[in-house]
Amino acid sequence: MKLLFIGDIVGSIGRDALQSYLPRLKSKYKPDAVIVNGENAAAGRGITKKIYDDLLFMGVDVITMGNHTWDQKEIFDFIDDADYLIRPANFSEDAPGKGSVTITKNGKQLTVMNLHGRVFLPPHDCPFKKVDEMIEEAQKISPYIFVDFHAEATSEKIAFGWHLDGRASAVVGTHTHVQTADNRILPGGTAYITDVGMTGPYDGVLGMGKENVLYKFKTNLPARFEVPKTGRAVLSGYFVELNQAGKAIHQERIYINDDQPFVQ
Ligand SMILES: [Fe+2]
Ligand SMILES: [Fe+2]
Repeated sequence: MKLLFIGDIVGSIGRDALQSYLPRLKSKYKPDAVIVNGENAAAGRGITKKIYDDLLFMGVDVITMGNHTWDQKEIFDFIDDADYLIRPANFSEDAPGKGSVTITKNGKQLTVMNLHGRVFLPPHDCPFKKVDEMIEEAQKISPYIFVDFHAEATSEKIAFGWHLDGRASAVVGTHTHVQTADNRILPGGTAYITDVGMTGPYDGVLGMGKENVLYKFKTNLPARFEVPKTGRAVLSGYFVELNQAGKAIHQERIYINDDQPFVQ
């Protein structure tokens, strides 16, 4: 099974970059399933029903979220009906939505999970304990298990990768919006990267316009961060190929921008 993951889609530049590159990425990698993190898809903050529908129409199979899950109030109206949208599983038990989904692609079942870190982020239930319960259930269905761990600290993400080595097919980090170069296959057969990076404005700061971010750093005064609507784009992704036992046999980083153009 081949899986393509695209990191945090930020605003319209990110959505446009996905739309423009996805057909080429599909023809190059021939993924059985495409997973994207959509927590910043709506102008940097959350996701709307229309964007959810648009992403599925583009050919995305599952959308994961993160700390920005609830930023668009309309999500409370549609998350329970959005079959292919998952939010971190270790949010409160009272939170709407779900933390994992199993899909069938080309006759194979794949479970995608989303969990949230707890270091330098709001408190949530323990992701390590929660994922243990989820993995046990998912393994009864299929050996193909993909985990998006949305977390800030590199140490927590690396520890999470080791925690799942040999039990998940792939563990990818999201949230920091900067791609790390530590992608590898762990000894137990789990593909791992600390952060996939984001898909959005290339010339800003983590997807936000640089002017207001610079103003805040230089003055220590409040500034509203906005996602630019025009400008150059970066696309950050991760590709993994699994054998029939659900173990990773190949993986690579995808990083496309004007300085590192797409190569077919
Ligand atoms: Fe993000
Ligand atoms: Fe985030």
